Amino acid sequence: MITIKNIKKSYKKGNHRVEVLDNVTYSFKSNSLYCIIGKSGAGKSTLIEILGLLIKEECGSINIKGREINSLNEFEKAKVRNKEIGFIFQDFYLNPLMKAYENVMLPMYLDKNITNKKRKEKAYELLKLVGLVDRETHFPKELSGGEQQRVAIARSLANNPNIILADEPTGSLDSESTVAVLNILKCLSKENKCVIIVSHDDRVQKYADVVLKLEDKKLKEKDK
Ligand SMILES: Nc1ncnc2c1ncn2[C@@H]1O[C@H](COP(=O)(O)OP(=O)(O)O)[C@@H](O)[C@H]1O
Ligand SMILES: [Mg+2]
Repeated sequence: MITIKNIKKSYKKGNHRVEVLDNVTYSFKSNSLYCIIGKSGAGKSTLIEILGLLIKEECGSINIKGREINSLNEFEKAKVRNKEIGFIFQDFYLNPLMKAYENVMLPMYLDKNITNKKRKEKAYELLKLVGLVDRETHFPKELSGGEQQRVAIARSLANNPNIILADEPTGSLDSESTVAVLNILKCLSKENKCVIIVSHDDRVQKYADVVLKLEDKKLKEKDK
């Protein structure tokens, strides 16, 4: 589904460079839930941003569903990102001025061929999928953290992506909401999707098919 080869990344800090990833190679498959663990500052967010085509690696290649990303221009790359990848973040990043269903509709505007009626229907359907019936017209501030994250999951599914990338999705949630969110992500991984969760939360590892550890700039499979 998504293969990265010999990825390197460093950042400039003052007058020197800090290497974060060095020759990271891995093949993520569909129908699987991956958990990437590692200490704070190990480069987990950097890796997820590279996988999501949000930032560029210095060396190496990324292949998504058979397409070499390096050979694409920015426009084509944005199209792959919007169509193939859904993002979930620790702080939800919902638009506070939009109701739940409007937040879910937002990514659908990239496809000009669907009607607003269809977008709204799809948003309601996705909110139902994450168990948020009767919350469709609530604003984010009227929802609990767990509910907001479920709206964010519904939004990540707006364009039917095959890859879901989640950076510390349970980092701001209580135990009950954590379980709800992880159960939804687990279900999605069984529906032909590749779900990659970055987390230092031990509870996440139990849900994963594969646990990977990012340490000393390398990514390695960890025995469960
Ligand atoms: N945009 C940036 N500019 C400079 N340094 C960065 C930037 N993003 C991350 N870093 C540095 O790269 C390292 C890895 O960061 P990050 O990927 O956020 O780690 P993690 O998510 O595992 O905590 C850290 O030392 C961090 O300070
Ligand atoms: Mg991080």
